[in-house]
Amino acid sequence: MSRMKTFYLETFGCQMNVVDSEQIVGIARQLDYVLVDSPDRADLIVLNTCTIRARAERKVYGHLGRFKPLKQQRPSLIVAVCGCVAQQEGRRMLEKTPHLDIVCGTHNLHLFADMLRRVQTRRERCAEVSFLDAGQRRRLFPERLPSDEVTRFVTVIQGCDNFCTYCIVPHVRGREVSRPSAEVLEEVRALMRQGVREITLVGQNVNSYGCKEGDEISFAALLRQINAVEGLERIRFMTSHPKDLSDELVACFGELEKLCKHIHLPVQAGANSVLRAMRRGYSREQYLDRIARLRQVCPEIRVTSDVIVGFPGETGADFEQTMDLLRQVRYAEIYTFLYSARPGTAAAELPDDTPATLKQERFDRMLALQEEITGNYHESDVGRVLPVLVEGSSRQGSGQLFGRTTWNRIVNFDGDAALIGHVVPVRLVRAFRNSHLGELA
Ligand code: 5AD
Ligand code: SF4
Repeated sequence: MSRMKTFYLETFGCQMNVVDSEQIVGIARQLDYVLVDSPDRADLIVLNTCTIRARAERKVYGHLGRFKPLKQQRPSLIVAVCGCVAQQEGRRMLEKTPHLDIVCGTHNLHLFADMLRRVQTRRERCAEVSFLDAGQRRRLFPERLPSDEVTRFVTVIQGCDNFCTYCIVPHVRGREVSRPSAEVLEEVRALMRQGVREITLVGQNVNSYGCKEGDEISFAALLRQINAVEGLERIRFMTSHPKDLSDELVACFGELEKLCKHIHLPVQAGANSVLRAMRRGYSREQYLDRIARLRQVCPEIRVTSDVIVGFPGETGADFEQTMDLLRQVRYAEIYTFLYSARPGTAAAELPDDTPATLKQERFDRMLALQEEITGNYHESDVGRVLPVLVEGSSRQGSGQLFGRTTWNRIVNFDGDAALIGHVVPVRLVRAFRNSHLGELA
């Protein structure tokens, strides 16, 4: 009797890769592979990769190195790389890594099954990394596997046209392509029938949804339509570009009762000279104005952000402007990154004379400031009773349930599993770094 074939999948990076990995699972299952949680005995190993910073890329090569002895022990093992590193490196990756069989780019998952068969039957190593055009966009938004979860991602737009000077995303994910709104709505309704209660609309830049497609509705209009879907409790979206945050979209936070009071609005830097060099398309003043408008229509909204420290040419005064902006905005949370030069981007050509130790110093100071601000939010929330959408059993195995507030903050509390999928009032009793402890109110 033939043994069931097994596959091991590791996913790096952002929400787009999470959605793609789901598709990879579907493809492997159709070819009779079952998912296992260790690479040691797998027949197929897939890495779905990220290249946003040099460290992420190095991690992929590090992981691949670990699979080399496995391949020596079992030459029938198939090793595949998908995602952004695959797209960036292409065929070169096969040359660099003799034990690698498949390189499948970000627009090529529809070819993955065929590539697997080619390796299985002919031991033919292959790389596919060509971009699709808008006419083939169906392939970029394939049908999803059914879900048994409370909250799900739904892709609305792929790619990015912004070419911020530091960013490799437009180079590895291609141009913006929006998904037809009718398809998005259909998927949301299908998810409701499966028991999903919260959806997060995802894309590199959801705010420019529909902009290129002359006949498509705006992102705000899409949100209004989704808000009307019966059974849905909550809507989130990410990521938003500040320059495309329209008044119409801002107004949604005051109008749509299902839209969570949270927006991730990456600022990247607080000094106009740096924003210009990054080609972000907004000034510090314009950004602050959008934050003010958001808070006007929705006083309780909480904002999170991404910040890059040590962009080429960032002076001490520029950095202080970013610190000052953090104090003004009072983000609920920020994700701070040390600038990393990426091949093929415009910023990679800029001279960079800030010493690494100085960048690290700035980075540490920023972390300390934000920790204080974030801590203040968390402490002042203790004692409040907040609606929590219950997502499942707590991951710490404590027998508790966990869910999230409208601000996307995790709350653990005691309760019956029958509450999963429902919004319940929870009193926050204690704040930890990554979650609150609560009790049913
Ligand atoms: N170096 C450092 N951080 C980067 N990001 C994107 N590109 C780079 C880079 N080259 C950060 C940005 C973005 C987040 C996803 O990653 O802050 O918003
Ligand atoms: Fe990168 Fe800028 Fe596009 Fe975001 S908007 S993915 S930072 S190029």
